[in-house]
Amino acid sequence: MAFSGSFPAVRPRRLRRTPALRRLVAQTRLHPADLVLPMFVKESLTEPAPLSSMPGVLQHTRDSLKAAAAQAVSAGVGGLMIFGIPAVRDGIGSQATDPGGILNVALADLRAEVGQSTVLMADLCLDEFTDHGHCGLLTTSGEVDNDATLERYREMGVAQASSGADLVGTSGMMDGQVGAVRAALDAEGFTDTGVFAYAAKYASAFYGPFREAVDSALTGDRRSYQQDPANRREAAREVALDIAEGADLVMVKPAMSYLDVLADVAAMPEVAVPIAAYQVSGEYAMIEAAAANGWIDRDRAILETLTSIRRAGAQIVLTYWAAEIAATLVAPQQD
Ligand code: PBG
Repeated sequence: MAFSGSFPAVRPRRLRRTPALRRLVAQTRLHPADLVLPMFVKESLTEPAPLSSMPGVLQHTRDSLKAAAAQAVSAGVGGLMIFGIPAVRDGIGSQATDPGGILNVALADLRAEVGQSTVLMADLCLDEFTDHGHCGLLTTSGEVDNDATLERYREMGVAQASSGADLVGTSGMMDGQVGAVRAALDAEGFTDTGVFAYAAKYASAFYGPFREAVDSALTGDRRSYQQDPANRREAAREVALDIAEGADLVMVKPAMSYLDVLADVAAMPEVAVPIAAYQVSGEYAMIEAAAANGWIDRDRAILETLTSIRRAGAQIVLTYWAAEIAATLVAPQQD
């Protein structure tokens, strides 16, 4: 007797026997169009600068950003998410709304460079632009002032839309930010510009390397506005609010430590918009560091994490590996 269980004919391993069988029954697939590449552009750089905590990721000049974007587009990525690092910072993040500010000029550059061949997105948050490094304006006592910040976000959304962004990524975790930005866009005639809401965004240690990527000035933390990692149900509240305020897409961030949250959001019947997850800088750095030490198989680990994030419920994944992985996946013919 080869098998002594109660169901000797039931052998799940049959479907795992060959690569072709495994491919046929794979429930989750990766496709270049589902991957979004976050990119950094820094004012006053004369050549691209590598990041020590994110090997393989660069702070770009305006020119090198265009070239890297064109390469990502030819690999078939679904979109680009752009972050800007200004040369001068102040208390209100003036460069975020200046049409000549680095993020806004880079968006215009990219719109001209890539046309409509990919989706152009911009991070809508003040932390890269303020001298204190917080995502919003501060009161005289040093608290992050929610409603004063919304005014800046409204202007920032309009500046990004005017510069050619298809989607603005509200990532500051101020209450009411999606509704405020939506109203400002509509009032200025940008009714076709979408809001990509970083809806469930946690105060995470995994944003560590991002601080280097944007030369962050922050001292302290963002726990008074980003979510507490201890909380699961709160994500449903944040997502529902953003959708009610007009979010066109919603995101969970970070990804790997929040797959339960992602699965919850994907299971919410009222969430009928696309769901994204952001595999953040620290997630990238951990895998690169372990692989550099020979402790894990880099390529398998990357594919496994991306597959897991998709399996948990994200249709779209932001990842610093987007262009590299897209180039290794076979893209179907464009129509
Ligand atoms: C806010 C923003 C952050 C990240 C994306 N948008 C930083 C933060 O919230 O502290 C982090 C992304 C990453 O770590 O890769 N502008």
